[in-house]
Amino acid sequence: MAFIHLDVRCLYAILICTAFGSTLSSNTEIKVNPPEDFEIVDPGYLGYLYLQWQPPLFLDNCEEHTVEYELKYRNIDSENWRTIITKNLLYKDGFDLNKGVEAKIHTVLQGQCTNGSEVQSSWSEASYWTSPQGNLETKIQDMNCIYYNWQYLLCSWKLGMDVSFDTNYYLFYWYEGLDHALQCSDYIEDNGKNIGCRFSYLEEPDYKDFYICVNGSSKSQLIRPSYFIFQLQNIVKPLPPDYLNIVVKKSEDINLEWNIPEGPIPATCFIYEIKFTEDNTTWMATTFENQMYVTRTSNDSQELCFLVRSKMNVYCTDDGIWSEWSEIECWRGVRQEEILSFLIPFAFILFLILVITCLLVSKQKTLQKMILQKKQEVFPRQETIC
Ligand SMILES: *[C@@H]1O[C@H](CO)[C@@H](O)[C@H](O)[C@H]1NC(C)=O
Ligand SMILES: *[C@@H]1O[C@H](CO)[C@@H](O)[C@H](O)[C@H]1NC(C)=O
Ligand SMILES: *[C@@H]1O[C@H](CO)[C@@H](O)[C@H](O)[C@H]1NC(C)=O
Ligand SMILES: *[C@@H]1O[C@H](CO)[C@@H](O)[C@H](O)[C@H]1NC(C)=O
Repeated sequence: MAFIHLDVRCLYAILICTAFGSTLSSNTEIKVNPPEDFEIVDPGYLGYLYLQWQPPLFLDNCEEHTVEYELKYRNIDSENWRTIITKNLLYKDGFDLNKGVEAKIHTVLQGQCTNGSEVQSSWSEASYWTSPQGNLETKIQDMNCIYYNWQYLLCSWKLGMDVSFDTNYYLFYWYEGLDHALQCSDYIEDNGKNIGCRFSYLEEPDYKDFYICVNGSSKSQLIRPSYFIFQLQNIVKPLPPDYLNIVVKKSEDINLEWNIPEGPIPATCFIYEIKFTEDNTTWMATTFENQMYVTRTSNDSQELCFLVRSKMNVYCTDDGIWSEWSEIECWRGVRQEEILSFLIPFAFILFLILVITCLLVSKQKTLQKMILQKKQEVFPRQETIC
């Protein structure tokens, strides 16, 4: 009997489970529409785009705040989608406009209005291309931007390969904080053609995406624009360190010292590379300090030399450019031949001085004698006069 009772309980449990399951499955039938009017808008910031949309239709039995959107976007050709979950109707991000942009979005319902389960709409898609004009050969080549000493930004490029005589190029830039894209105000020219730009004072451009577009014009052909995105703190090239000094403490302990490059870069943001030469052997090392202790490998080494260059370190930026090498600083040990070659002329000069003083002294003595003799000759005469 006990067995039968148990079986009946099990049966009840199974019945309840299936009943509950069927209510759940009926809930997943709730449908939701994708967002309306999904579009990618280019505000003219050279790569910073707005992805925007409107709420889905027929959300009657749901309150607005329970609606979320899952947004996915990427540059066409890139492998990974970036995914964003948001309750807003607008999302902004930077894109490489040399390529197209594609994005998709769907509505996600969760919580009360779906009785706890998650409901997703179908995807709504959008894409964006800057109308590709001109063939690839008309683009500028070898764009190179350097932020010298975290103060002066300078970009340079080479002309396109297949361009007509009247082609010229123009640089535009934008970063967060500017109302609109600005044109370069100080071009570097070569034969009347713009091949670079010196940027005037930039207000707080660091740790932001810095968008650049170099486009061009020609009467006879279309010129393909090029787009670039930099973070200025990642393209800093510091000044080389100066005032290098070698202090030889004991015969084998050496201290290398140098000055932190002057300018706005904090002392804690540097890493240094040292090239040290002891006679014929050279080695390299890096340090975060502006000095380094070194041990001589041989007491006989005659010449110790080093030079240093600097770069921004990983605590302040993701990347950087090495400065030029500093002037070389050398210390030379004193060899025995050098001591001799120094002592011999010194001894010779000392000897000469000795001889001359001797001569002078002896000459003075003879002079004094002569004067005395003359006096003696004069006095007797006076006596005779008196
Ligand atoms: C949620 O469940 C309750 C009862 O379990 C039901 O009355 C209601 O219609 C369900 N809501 C939706 C949106 O299906
Ligand atoms: C170059 O780009 C700027 C900024 O987008 C634009 O204002 C300008 O008209 C373009 N010039 C040419 C020749 O396409
Ligand atoms: C350094 O190199 C030169 C020539 O290569 C050689 O004559 C000299 O002996 C070397 N000095 C040392 C300390 O090895
Ligand atoms: C150099 O000379 C000092 C003192 O004369 C000695 O203590 C030391 O071991 C020497 N070092 C080398 C590398 O020969």
